[in-house]
Amino acid sequence: MTLTPEQAENPLTAGLERMPVAPTTLVIFGATGDLARRKLLPALYNLAHDGALPERFHLVGVSRKEKENEDYRAECEEAIRRFSRRKPDDDVLEGLLDSVKYVPGTFDDETVYAELKSVLEEFEKEAGEPLNRAFYLSTAPSFFPVIVEQLGESALAHHPDAEVRLIIEKPFGTTLEEARDLNHQVLGRFEESQVYRIDHYLGKETVQNMMAFRFANGMFEPLWNRNYIDSVQITAAEDLGIGTRADYYNEAGALRDLIQNHMLQLLCHVAMEPPVSFTAEEVRNEKVKVLQAIPEPTVEQIPEMALRAQYTAGHAGGEDVPGYLEEEGVPEGSKTETYAALRLEVDNWRWAGVPFYLRTGKRLARKVTEIAVTLKPVPHLAFSHDGSLGVQPNQLVLTLQPNEGVSLRLGAKIPGTRMIIRPVNMEFLYGTAFLSQSPEAYERLITDAMRGDATLFTRNDEVEAQWRICDPIVKAWADSGQPGPPVALYEAGSQGPAEADGLLRGDDRWRAI
Ligand code: BG6
Repeated sequence: MTLTPEQAENPLTAGLERMPVAPTTLVIFGATGDLARRKLLPALYNLAHDGALPERFHLVGVSRKEKENEDYRAECEEAIRRFSRRKPDDDVLEGLLDSVKYVPGTFDDETVYAELKSVLEEFEKEAGEPLNRAFYLSTAPSFFPVIVEQLGESALAHHPDAEVRLIIEKPFGTTLEEARDLNHQVLGRFEESQVYRIDHYLGKETVQNMMAFRFANGMFEPLWNRNYIDSVQITAAEDLGIGTRADYYNEAGALRDLIQNHMLQLLCHVAMEPPVSFTAEEVRNEKVKVLQAIPEPTVEQIPEMALRAQYTAGHAGGEDVPGYLEEEGVPEGSKTETYAALRLEVDNWRWAGVPFYLRTGKRLARKVTEIAVTLKPVPHLAFSHDGSLGVQPNQLVLTLQPNEGVSLRLGAKIPGTRMIIRPVNMEFLYGTAFLSQSPEAYERLITDAMRGDATLFTRNDEVEAQWRICDPIVKAWADSGQPGPPVALYEAGSQGPAEADGLLRGDDRWRAI
């Protein structure tokens, strides 16, 4: 594959010369759903725009609603025009839409899979060669097992002459037991090497940059341990509420929705050992070791290391907004947490004794995802007599979104005749350093899956290791029959519940959101 100079410069397409994407048919189950419309279709358009799709590419949408190919194509076009990060180019869009087909039917109906099979075979006949197949499960999670079973039953899980891959959206189970059962079902039909479990945070440029930051710079690694680091604080705050997702969200809650997956992945990126190489197995082995080093919380520990809270009415995003219990579709008296904070420890030589604070919430003061690594204070302040009250420990903040960048807090002397110290920031911002728009996470993840690179996907043991940490907390919080900590409250648009301070050790403070 020959790339144009523009494509060779683009970080997304630059590596393609090494690893071309083989001719592929991508089948999206749940093709008319929100995720497909908002994320998957726009991502495919942008890949087409970058020349990152294979020359022979077909897209098949499968969904319950009866409709003709033409109607589905029109819906795809509307979704792409509305949600693409780039204004679509008519020729590129038309080329992509030409490749689209629609197969209607319910996911447990075997005739749907027979129809799908004949569509796939028809494409291969036209191409005169076998085509790889990627099945993307973007349905409600309750359909994952039945689709996997039907793909297996209709002999679609393997192909004698091409690669077959299964891409599974989150959530991967809602408890450890469910995650194990789902792994068991999936691995009964597919090999682990065919399976790509999505955690869209891994596709974010800024998350991948954490590896570059740690492992491509010599200056941080010597400090990156319990001798120099005092605490790590990971925040994923959102200003939005639950929107129209009450059905899903009320069952999930903040712990399952963000901490079990995205935030534990961020923790792994901070805490993992340098992998020997950036292959899928090496990277994932290192992440699993981190998760295994986090002790499973006991019932007695939970009240002092985990906190849940719910938003009440307030002012957010410039308007008055209702509380969680007043949101449409939320059952009366729901105890579902819209905010969760944890204090975890990674019990190994590098990290023993360093608290990792994680917090996430809906309807907080603003949207920000960041990791703040606070170093230990200097051992002795020589100029304390001369007004160095402003001396604060160094802090490295990796901002994942928005205003993506890295900033390092240093102590500096205020110009003047006296030695007065004040914190200042040294900053790197993506926007100004690279002057280019980052691809959306799904663009990266879809091409990686089609290419067979599983580095940015969660392995079966990794998902289970994540659940091992969260499951006892989920159970303790759900166990309403037992006396447990009540759900704390926080006003929409605020910094979160005051009770979250109770998780902090010593002089630690939550950063302002
Ligand atoms: C999703 C959660 O996985 O991540 C949502 O289900 C959340 O509730 C979203 O809003 C946040 O993603 P991002 O990319 O906007 O940080």
